[in-house]
Amino acid sequence: MTRSPYVGLHVVAEGRRATAADIVASVQREISSGGFPGGSRLPPVRALEKQYGLSKNTAQAAYDELVARGLVEAREREGVFVVAPPRLAAPTPISRPPLPGIVTPPLKADAVPKGMIPLSTVFIDPELLPTERIAECARSVLREKMPSQYDAQGYPPLRAAIAKRLQTRGVDVEPDEIIITTGSQQSLDIVARSLAVRRIAVESPVYAYAKLLFESLGSEIVGLHLDPFAGIDLAEWDRALSSKPSLAYLIPSFQNPTGYSYTSAELRGVLELCSKHQVAILEDDWGSDMLSDGEYRPMLRMLGGKNVLYVNSFTKKLLPSLRVGFVAAAPSLVPTLVAMKRLSTLGNAWLTEAVVAEFLERGYYDTHLASLQRALDARYSACLVALDELMPDGVRWTRSGGGPTLWLDLPRTLDLRALEAHLERRGIHVTNASAAFHGAPHLHGYRIAYAYLTEQDMRRALTILADAIRTVR
Ligand SMILES: Cc1ncc(COP(=O)(O)O)c(C=O)c1O
Repeated sequence: MTRSPYVGLHVVAEGRRATAADIVASVQREISSGGFPGGSRLPPVRALEKQYGLSKNTAQAAYDELVARGLVEAREREGVFVVAPPRLAAPTPISRPPLPGIVTPPLKADAVPKGMIPLSTVFIDPELLPTERIAECARSVLREKMPSQYDAQGYPPLRAAIAKRLQTRGVDVEPDEIIITTGSQQSLDIVARSLAVRRIAVESPVYAYAKLLFESLGSEIVGLHLDPFAGIDLAEWDRALSSKPSLAYLIPSFQNPTGYSYTSAELRGVLELCSKHQVAILEDDWGSDMLSDGEYRPMLRMLGGKNVLYVNSFTKKLLPSLRVGFVAAAPSLVPTLVAMKRLSTLGNAWLTEAVVAEFLERGYYDTHLASLQRALDARYSACLVALDELMPDGVRWTRSGGGPTLWLDLPRTLDLRALEAHLERRGIHVTNASAAFHGAPHLHGYRIAYAYLTEQDMRRALTILADAIRTVR
């Protein structure tokens, strides 16, 4: 039988050898001060003998006395235990804090019940992810000597590999300007907390967890109206930015949730507007790695230089469970960002960072992206064919040109909640996007995820969706 651990007893004996009375008084003091809660096991007699140089009889006599006073009980072969004293007043309960923003969707969005087809997920089909090669890198890393310390800014070889990769794509960046984070979400968090922005501009609709994060930190949101069917109305953005937000959070490639990508004229226009209104830019570049083979689109970070804060991540494209992302910042911002990261996590786990570094150093990432892009292109084309064939009149969709998702827009008269309930019963999960909008939604539909679903599942889900639209309408 394993015995419960015993509490440490400090016997106060004022310089002389402890007596039985000293032990009794010390235990009594601990019990009445709450130091020994009911159920605590007292040190075994031989432990007291050894610690205080007492005779066995002295310690035993003290315990007998404590038993006689009803303060402790001796349990056969288990030890001596403190008897639970009358209950103390319970501490004040912590009142349940409010959850930030709208909680049901999107906080539950990724938890799709088993057997359901997740038609709006932003994840990529695990079958398309290089799990074998990641495992190979992990095995190789584990053969190295594990460092006992960590670098709060992130594992240096990974920072070097990321900088090298960005440099080959024309970005002027150094390893010291990169901070590794737990996915882009932590990048957004440390940036928002470091800059403590009072007012932040975001596309509307936008990646909902970013908006909810900024709101939870007390920032006021300025919505930048985004209509993926019409493109960006720069005059309207000009008016919105004249309210002087200090930061604009922008997703220029395969924007989440619309799948929209800024045109090069829009990229330049947005940079000009931000410069005119003195708004700093936080670019979330989750999409540019998913551009079709050979396609090139400059990022804001390339056009605008080091003043553009740049966030990207390996989570969606490499393996979600690795949770590795990063932020690239101007040298003057790096110490504050690292300090903020340190305050929340001290540093991240070396092992995953080393695995990603190995994966990059071996050149596996670019090989993987090339095959991923081919697969996503094929799924995108199949999705367009299915939509053309299946969707009733009045339904329209964006043509993202690749990447993971597009936006399907439905007639305004259609009750989305009724449609969602209907789909749920038929095994299809769609994410209600209302939390992604700032103010009343101007789009009426869903993100469609062709990156996650096989062509068969995609067609099945879209057939059911088209059916459901006709029924609910
Ligand atoms: C646009 C965008 N940015 C950032 C994130 C955060 O991703 P992660 O923390 O997994 O890198 C997501 C997640 O879906 C996203 O869609």
